[in-house]
Amino acid sequence: MSGAKGVRIMARNATIEERPAPPKRQLSFPRLMLRMIRNPVSSWGENLYEEPAVLYRWLGLQTVFVMDPALIQTILLDDAASYSKQPLNDDLFGLAIGGGLLNAEGEDWRWQRRLAAPLFRAEDVLGFVPAFVSACAPALERWKEAGAGASLRIDKDMTRATLQVLQDTVLGAGLGEDDRRLIEEAGATFLAYSIWKVVLTSLRLPPSVPHPGSRIMARTGRQLREVAKGVLAKTRDGKVQGDNLLGRLVTARDPATGNAMPDDLIVDNVVTFLMAGHETTSQALTWSLYLLALFPEWQERGREEVLTVTGGGEIGREEIAKLFLLDAVFQEAMRLYPPAPVLMRRTIAPVSLGGIALDKGATITIPIYVVHRHKLLWQDPLAFDPSRFAAEAKVGRHRCAYMPFGAGPRTCVGGSFAMLEGKTILATLLSRARFELPDGETPTPVARITLRPKGGLTLKVTTL
Ligand code: HEM
Repeated sequence: MSGAKGVRIMARNATIEERPAPPKRQLSFPRLMLRMIRNPVSSWGENLYEEPAVLYRWLGLQTVFVMDPALIQTILLDDAASYSKQPLNDDLFGLAIGGGLLNAEGEDWRWQRRLAAPLFRAEDVLGFVPAFVSACAPALERWKEAGAGASLRIDKDMTRATLQVLQDTVLGAGLGEDDRRLIEEAGATFLAYSIWKVVLTSLRLPPSVPHPGSRIMARTGRQLREVAKGVLAKTRDGKVQGDNLLGRLVTARDPATGNAMPDDLIVDNVVTFLMAGHETTSQALTWSLYLLALFPEWQERGREEVLTVTGGGEIGREEIAKLFLLDAVFQEAMRLYPPAPVLMRRTIAPVSLGGIALDKGATITIPIYVVHRHKLLWQDPLAFDPSRFAAEAKVGRHRCAYMPFGAGPRTCVGGSFAMLEGKTILATLLSRARFELPDGETPTPVARITLRPKGGLTLKVTTL
């Protein structure tokens, strides 16, 4: 099978172990909720991987799981006005990101989206390639010092690298060492308990109902906002220059009133981008490196491609555009392990969705993880096969059958940025290090807003 522009992508199928195994039968709604607390991935029954949609009705609540790409298109694009992110998103993230871009609706959202979008134009993000390459240097340095074959926590290194990227590119303001540690730790803690909010909101209970970790979530939310306030203060002191997110937020004028953006909303957006902008990409890279360690043949081919394209020299914007195989590897990794594994919406009026009558207030769950492994959509869904993303293999695939960045107007604003960042970091790391799987390392994916390997990911690393 050939990729675009003559680069050969050999189909070498290799199957991943399905962990956790899905329940054989559909769980009752109360059991579904209980299982979700442990890990949503282990709550999705085998039937979800075979059916277009599954409706739960329980005590007057309706929750529908939607896997059919045509129905997903209805929700996210064609009839998007009938579905809202609220109050789900507020219940979930409100403590940390308030009314920032990820949460806002209507005109509030449009204004913020227009402000941020120009930072992410595909042509402009190419200018960030050197920043992506240099964010790998500290990890490569640590790996070299650790010695050949050292077992290292790859997930932590990817988090540090992607946070570094964010501050050096989009954000445009330096974060101190303490800030960075806090973002890494508080972010992970906040997400770890967030599943309780998902359960509360699914049961239509207010997010203020106490639950395990509720105080910790409130505290970490406040801590993240404190970091953002510090970053904003530095901007006000004139310590930030150039076209970046902070500069745009500080100089923005509300199109309706002409007023400057209130500080609270700036802070909402700084926390939004700090969280949405590094954690997802970090997980995508972690899972990619896991798969490349699991299937060394693909790792070799990826490395070979990078070395052929760069001739062993620098990786720049021209070289990145020629890495077709690595692009396919990164996409296939996000198919099997989508960093944002679930999207949720609520109906704002009664609707008929593919013949299913839904009341106002019904909960919509789009389990991207299940869609990406659905038996009606993918041949041999558990096979790691990057050739699925060769140009000709994508022809005729429904736009919502593969959607790591979501779809429709609320699609990820940083999608092209993340693709380029992921590919550049993978290329840099592969050209400088070899990755092996320690015996018995089979990570279990856990959904905590993002999809993480339970307990992190350890790989044996040898720098080249
Ligand atoms: C592999 C990396 C990434 C993945 C998988 C990802 C995934 C997603 C998804 C699925 C959504 C849609 C959520 C929904 O519809 O409910 C989203 C939205 C968003 N993402 Fe990303 N994202 C990634 C990287 C980034 C980066 C690098 C940034 C910024 C630097 C970013 C910022 C945002 C923002 C602000 C939104 C809200 C957009 C809006 O509602 O208008 N993301 N992301």
